Amino acid sequence: MPETTRPLPTDDPTQVAAFEARIAAGESIEPKDWMPERYRRQLTRMMSQHAHSEIVGMLPEGNWITRAPSLRRKLSLIAKVQDEAGHGLYIYCGTETLGVDRFDLYNQLLDGTAKYSSIFNYPTLAWADMGVIGWLVDGAAIVNQTILAKTSYGPYARAMVRICKEENFHKRQGYEICMTLAKGTPAQREMLQDAVNRFWWPSLMMFGPSDTHSPNTAELLKWRVKRKTNDELRQRFINLTVPQAQELGITLPDPDLRYNAETKNWDFGTIDWSEFQEVIAGNGPCNRERLEARRAAHDEGRWVRDAAAAHAAKRSQATAAA
Ligand code: 3HC
Repeated sequence: MPETTRPLPTDDPTQVAAFEARIAAGESIEPKDWMPERYRRQLTRMMSQHAHSEIVGMLPEGNWITRAPSLRRKLSLIAKVQDEAGHGLYIYCGTETLGVDRFDLYNQLLDGTAKYSSIFNYPTLAWADMGVIGWLVDGAAIVNQTILAKTSYGPYARAMVRICKEENFHKRQGYEICMTLAKGTPAQREMLQDAVNRFWWPSLMMFGPSDTHSPNTAELLKWRVKRKTNDELRQRFINLTVPQAQELGITLPDPDLRYNAETKNWDFGTIDWSEFQEVIAGNGPCNRERLEARRAAHDEGRWVRDAAAAHAAKRSQATAAA
């Protein structure tokens, strides 16, 4: 039974009060500090899903490495996909500071019981998708993760600082691809517009359900795990992105998008939350394909794990014999 579903022990109220005083004082909680079991589980839930998202997120872009239009684009895409792998491993390390065995998390992903970001269950149909993913998906990640860099759990906050540096490169290389296509032939502009039409709304869903339908946000805000709500971050992303789309000469697929001079926000249309629920329930366009690819990679990598285990056993025997 995954750790997060076991019944919660009752925490000592004095310890909880001391913990919450530390949170209120803006202190960073470190692995060896006392923390409520619920806090530990919330972080395990968020960080494991984040790590899974990074690993699964490699698949849509990996699909285009062999088809990149130039050596420069290929190198940039390979570097980005490698970065995502590193982000995943880095955040799995972070979950281990919470006492989690990363192989339990791997198994939850492989057996289909773990969540990962819905955005990676959409297909990448054209080269323009590589630009749009860098621009919109990594752009959304930057908005989310720059705030997560202020989270109360020390290891996660520090991981975000490092990861955001690389995400900024991801966004820049993506936006440059989009700008190249926007200045290209009519067919290239059309390819770009089609990619934006397919990825705009799923990118908004990356920030999670609206605040009124987010069961975790209130508790996460109380413990300063989240520092902004889903809707606040979504709005921030839209406000940043609309001018970038205008610069590209691209139309965002939302007829209700209009600037509100009073709030200084871009008001936007209704998100299709039934699509979101379908995708996170496993019925998105690519859910099955993504899990199959992860399972195949895990099986093909068995010999590496076995070799590493045999080498470690040999070394420990040699040490014991010395
Ligand atoms: N995809 C899949 N599941 C989602 C989701 C999404 N886009 N948004 C929300 N959910 C799930 C939540 O996990 C939760 O389910 P659970 O309780 O079973 O875990 C449920 O929907 C309700 O959502 P909540 O708003 O209550 O959940 P959270 O408070 O955890 O907020 C979140 C969701 C904003 C994604 C938050 O978990 C978070 O900030 N996580 C860390 C960042 C992260 O995981 N980003 C994913 C993208 S990875 C990435 O950007 C890679 C980059 O290289 C592109």
